[in-house]
Amino acid sequence: MSLESIKYHRGNLQILNQLLLPLETRYIQLNGVEDGWKAINKMQVRGAPAIAIVGCLSLAIELLKDDTADKKIMRQEIEGKLNYLVSARPTAVNIKLAAEDLTSLANDLCADESISPNEFKERFIQSIEGMLAKDIEDNKAIGKFGSLAILKGLESDGLVRILTHCNTGSLATAGYGTALGVIRALHESSRLEHVYCTETRPYNQGARLTAYELVHEKIPATLIVDSMVSALMHSRKITAVVVGADRVAANGDTANKIGTYQIAIVAKYHSVPFYVAAPLTSIDMSLKSGDMIKIEERPDKEMTHIGEQRIAAPGISCWNPSFDVTPASLITGIITEKGVFAPEKLIEMVPT
Ligand code: MRU
Repeated sequence: MSLESIKYHRGNLQILNQLLLPLETRYIQLNGVEDGWKAINKMQVRGAPAIAIVGCLSLAIELLKDDTADKKIMRQEIEGKLNYLVSARPTAVNIKLAAEDLTSLANDLCADESISPNEFKERFIQSIEGMLAKDIEDNKAIGKFGSLAILKGLESDGLVRILTHCNTGSLATAGYGTALGVIRALHESSRLEHVYCTETRPYNQGARLTAYELVHEKIPATLIVDSMVSALMHSRKITAVVVGADRVAANGDTANKIGTYQIAIVAKYHSVPFYVAAPLTSIDMSLKSGDMIKIEERPDKEMTHIGEQRIAAPGISCWNPSFDVTPASLITGIITEKGVFAPEKLIEMVPT
């Protein structure tokens, strides 16, 4: 069975505390927006789609308990709470786009006089609940399109070796995963020879989370540290790199976990195709280029410590950007639930 990072049924939201993985499997109860904000900010839940889904579900939990009978007040509270949730982490766009959609739904429900406060609440909560199934469905489509793109041109029984970075699997989404969904689809069709995952310093999403998922799913995999990518591409034939995205700008420039950019450069040097797998909810058509993406900087402690153990020399200063931007020119294709697009074609292909 695939890992479940988000457990939800009406009125009850639990998330797998990803800070404790892989050593401990412990779920935390989220009782509303404040809990949702903290879980996202502390990275107990992380990954662009999971951040959006958990944030919005935490609002659904809070709304269910709210007995306000005035639609205007409800609308106003919803907008304020969504803005607050968006502020928990700045780079991933999914939660911002979800907040915009939900705010416009709340506006419509509020304006429609035939809708009672109870119906407003019910329809609003249902819309949030729909995000879970939609994300899994999108990820499966990404898996299908991505695996076909990678296999194109290979012999019908040819096997592939994939490199991935960070964690983009069930833990980062509602299930199945984006880049890891592509890897999963290749494995399901018996075309995956091997996957290499980077450690992904400093938070170690690769070593702690992706490695955990790959072992759990019995997918043949090897962990490397981030500085081994060039050596890996030089000495072992890598068919393609597949990574996720936190925000893709209209020109295809892609913000993803720190280290992605250097992998893309190394891939170009070695003529290895470099794919970004991301749902349309990760594409920000309002930003012309990646220069406009706000990059989150995280606390020094993520670099200087492993758990509570200090590993860096005391007194050293740190720079800890959590993401970098890979220029579109290094990206072979962006794999979405609607198909695989060359970065420069996004603007024509993706509905705005
Ligand atoms: O800081 P994180 O762990 O939230 O960063 C996650 C990533 O960069 C992922 O690649 C991205 O969010 C896509 S997850 C499907």
